[in-house]
Amino acid sequence: MSGVGNVKLIGDDGKRIDGRALNELRPIKMEAGVLKRAEGSCYLEWGGNKVIAAVYGPREAQPRHSQKVDRAIVQCRYNMAPFSVDERKRPGPDRRSIELSKVIGHAFENVILLDKYPKSSIDIFIEVLQADAGTRCAGLTAASVALADAGIPMRSLVAACAAGRINGKVCLDLCKEEDNYGDADLPIGVAARTGEIVLMQMDGDLSGEEFDEAFKLAIEGCAKVNEIQRQALMNRYRSEPQPMAAEGNGGVC
Ligand code: CDP
Repeated sequence: MSGVGNVKLIGDDGKRIDGRALNELRPIKMEAGVLKRAEGSCYLEWGGNKVIAAVYGPREAQPRHSQKVDRAIVQCRYNMAPFSVDERKRPGPDRRSIELSKVIGHAFENVILLDKYPKSSIDIFIEVLQADAGTRCAGLTAASVALADAGIPMRSLVAACAAGRINGKVCLDLCKEEDNYGDADLPIGVAARTGEIVLMQMDGDLSGEEFDEAFKLAIEGCAKVNEIQRQALMNRYRSEPQPMAAEGNGGVC
């Protein structure tokens, strides 16, 4: 977010560089249950972002001193593949990925029913395969579906989306160029059922009025993202038509 104000990101027709309206999300595709060895998983494409999330656990927390006697702990790892960005990223954790792992983990601590699993760990892995801005929102959104797919009890799914300001205008879901040359970015994660904000960060500056507008827009974006999450889970668990019962077994298989 460089805030280089003279890069034209909104055309005279009011459209953005990728043709979207100011309040429009990038296309989102989501599929739950894509990994056979994880307890739960989700693959997400969101604009140019490609993200996979996997959940393991609840399992006994190790080392033992990390265990909490009355609840589970959430361990989250957000990782960007070296080939996910323009300039090869050095493999392994850096300050940014440690921060994102922490804030995404905290977001889920607010919705998972942790007291059901004392001394356990719920592990969330977020792998960014291709990055195009908004990967923390994409990762949080995919991880929420992976947790639901793993059958982890939660108060609510968490949907995330960012709004920001480009060329002085508040708009939804910044792509890479908008993130690079825009003025501000406000990613938000919402527990969809309760409306609780479980993640909120801000990069750049917004006036009070712009903040209110961006906040409202991001919340509306989260509601749309949540619809897609629900659809992905319904597609996964929609009951398949049963094969015709073999004659003579009374229909009981
Ligand atoms: O991805 P998100 O918007 O949540 O986080 P960011 O720190 O604002 O990064 C914005 C974008 O910058 C990422 O999505 C990547 O496309 C890009 N980036 C990069 O090219 N190299 C990095 N080491 C980190 C981020």
